[in-house]
Amino acid sequence: MNLEELDWDALERLRGLFLEGKPVKTAYWRSISDLVSYNATYGERIGWKWDAVLRGLAGQGNGGWKPPLGPLLDFGCGSGVAGRRVLASFGPNAFSSLHLHDKSRLAEGFSADEARRRFPELKVETGAPEAAFGVGGPVTLVVSHVLNELPPQDLRRLVALARRATTVLWVEPGTFQASRLLISVRESLRTEFKVIRPCPHSGQCGLLAAGREKDWCHHFASPPPGLSMDSSWVRFARQAGIDLRSLPYSHLVLERCAEEARSGPEGAQRVIGRPNSFKGYLDILSCGGDGVVDLRLQRRDAPELANALENAKDAILGRWEVREGRITGGKIMEPAE
Ligand SMILES: C[S@@+](CC[C@H](N)C(=O)[O-])C[C@H]1O[C@@H](n2cnc3c(N)ncnc32)[C@H](O)[C@@H]1O
Repeated sequence: MNLEELDWDALERLRGLFLEGKPVKTAYWRSISDLVSYNATYGERIGWKWDAVLRGLAGQGNGGWKPPLGPLLDFGCGSGVAGRRVLASFGPNAFSSLHLHDKSRLAEGFSADEARRRFPELKVETGAPEAAFGVGGPVTLVVSHVLNELPPQDLRRLVALARRATTVLWVEPGTFQASRLLISVRESLRTEFKVIRPCPHSGQCGLLAAGREKDWCHHFASPPPGLSMDSSWVRFARQAGIDLRSLPYSHLVLERCAEEARSGPEGAQRVIGRPNSFKGYLDILSCGGDGVVDLRLQRRDAPELANALENAKDAILGRWEVREGRITGGKIMEPAE
């Protein structure tokens, strides 16, 4: 990040809009310098969340999960960070084209220029999202940090688009509000898709059960090492009121497939958030096909598992041996050691 290039007034104004977390009626992106400054700061930070999700997909199953060859559609692209992260992870040849849609033409143009510069061989289009479905091939829909800004009718339109897609990759802030909205999207789509992440099952979300109203589904990404020594990032974090070490996100990855192929790995459990560490034990909120449960692991029962759970850098998937609400053993499947 080049501190000199940042438009601090624009970042301050954008910060105010993001904190509101409501549909924005006024002009959002006013100039290219808004997008340049966003892309280098808030956008890059969102990129680290995408890196965590994409790393998870690459480590999933045998040989990693991949989207089908077809158009990639980035809805609400802003500066285009999400689409570019997905292209960089799977490779530009994994997609036949990139379609960038935003209610701001300025944002679409900026993202298109960035994508063409980074992936010169790739066909890049902007405009109505429906166009991505007209060019042939299964569509991968990418959505990033848009939910809070959508009025109900726009959310319905986006869910209808997702219903036409073959795969959906969606990342939002790790807040209660964003997670709960994403859970409602999951509920609308889960009977037609297999849930690839974060849930190890495609049934009803366990956080919709009675008694779970205060919980939300989120995980934590790590910023690049050494960030706290970077004076530009330190100044940005101070000014934006952001803790650089904490990158909570909510996510959802869906793949259209036949009903009989929708089950997840047998007995797998996803840790929601991260383990809560205490002197002699850890508490975890664990999500599996039978619902979401609070579990406790006494360190003396399985010290190696306790250490591995505490030190995991990405969202944890594992299998536990459980007796009366206590984990007595188990194995971490993700992240790989
Ligand atoms: C917080 S920015 C996120 C941008 C980008 N997806 C990212 O992750 O960095 C939200 C974006 O959604 C766009 N947006 C908001 N409402 C929209 C709508 N109804 N249709 C299309 N884009 C919308 C905004 O213009 C803005 O670019």
